Amino acid sequence: MEYNITLIKGDGIAEEIANSVMQIIEKAGVKINWDIQLAGAKVVEDEGSPLPQRVLDSVRKNKVALKTPVTTPIGKGFRSVNVQLRKELDLYANLRPCKNIDGIKTPFNNVDIVVVRENTEDLYAGIERKIDDESAESIKIITKKASKKIAKFAFDYAIKNERRIVWAVTKANICKLTDGLFLDCCREISKDYPSIEYKEILVDNLCMQLVQNPDKFDVLVLPNLYGDIVSDLTAGLIGGLGVAQGANIGEEYAVFEPVHGSAPDIAGMDIANPTALILCAVEMLKYLNEYPAANKIEKALYKILKEGRIKTPDLGGHSKCSEFTKEIIKNIN
Ligand code: NAI
Repeated sequence: MEYNITLIKGDGIAEEIANSVMQIIEKAGVKINWDIQLAGAKVVEDEGSPLPQRVLDSVRKNKVALKTPVTTPIGKGFRSVNVQLRKELDLYANLRPCKNIDGIKTPFNNVDIVVVRENTEDLYAGIERKIDDESAESIKIITKKASKKIAKFAFDYAIKNERRIVWAVTKANICKLTDGLFLDCCREISKDYPSIEYKEILVDNLCMQLVQNPDKFDVLVLPNLYGDIVSDLTAGLIGGLGVAQGANIGEEYAVFEPVHGSAPDIAGMDIANPTALILCAVEMLKYLNEYPAANKIEKALYKILKEGRIKTPDLGGHSKCSEFTKEIIKNIN
């Protein structure tokens, strides 16, 4: 089987980590015709937008994309590429699994949390205005339709992946109408899934408990803003941005992307950690039902990380991204 897949090549470390992943997938034996689409700060000058229409057209055509990070130019009136992509393609679910990896030292060794973040509304609807020189406002949108959809996604994910508990996370004690509506929808959907335990927690309490007893948590379902913040926290629990994977999934399209940004401070130095993008590629292969190749890559990656001989500086090592990649390729068989 051959696949046409969009590779959104962004800025900073995008080139290095994309090259790593393309070589690894090739070694694992999956034939992909990469439709490479440049995006981000580097295309703004020529094309007038960090997310030109051709990128969206390519994802619409191919249905699946692997995305590297892009830099959104600050203060130039552009909407975030990521927010726009999610909105345009109705990628309503942002999935961020966070599980400890052997060989990566963290304060906890029993973290296995899946963050399911609503991706299309909340304060990210982008409805903001300046009232006067002294004040500005932003509108938080929560709808029944989007809240039920994300709750259903979380419970379906829990069933498919044999998880035990879904936690609905809000600040419904303060945002009574908006978060209250989100919570009502989670409660309603939970009734359709009697085999999964349903629990609720306020987001501030969750944050405290995540850094004390992360093993208590399983699948978390959250509105957009809390999901964004909490998923960086859970990424920190397993070793940081270099190893945190993510996926944006809708009914028609799926875009797999790491949590981290374009890391301009280390761009071009061949020291970026490609692990997060490799894990995204593994999830993408599973989404395509290419389980044998996905498992081979996962096994080789985890072996190298566990051995700890070859690791990038963000994990305390001295190796190059290209050396780490070569070592993984050597171990795929
Ligand atoms: P960042 O994630 O790019 O970097 C934060 C720190 O983590 C830096 O010290 C960086 O070197 C390190 N880091 C990140 N990824 C790494 C990796 N794979 N290997 C080793 N170290 C890594 O966040 P920052 O600095 O806030 O943002 C930089 C740019 O990225 C901004 O323009 C921002 O808009 C953009 N960004 C893009 C995202 C995306 O496209 N999904 C997500 C987040 C930020």
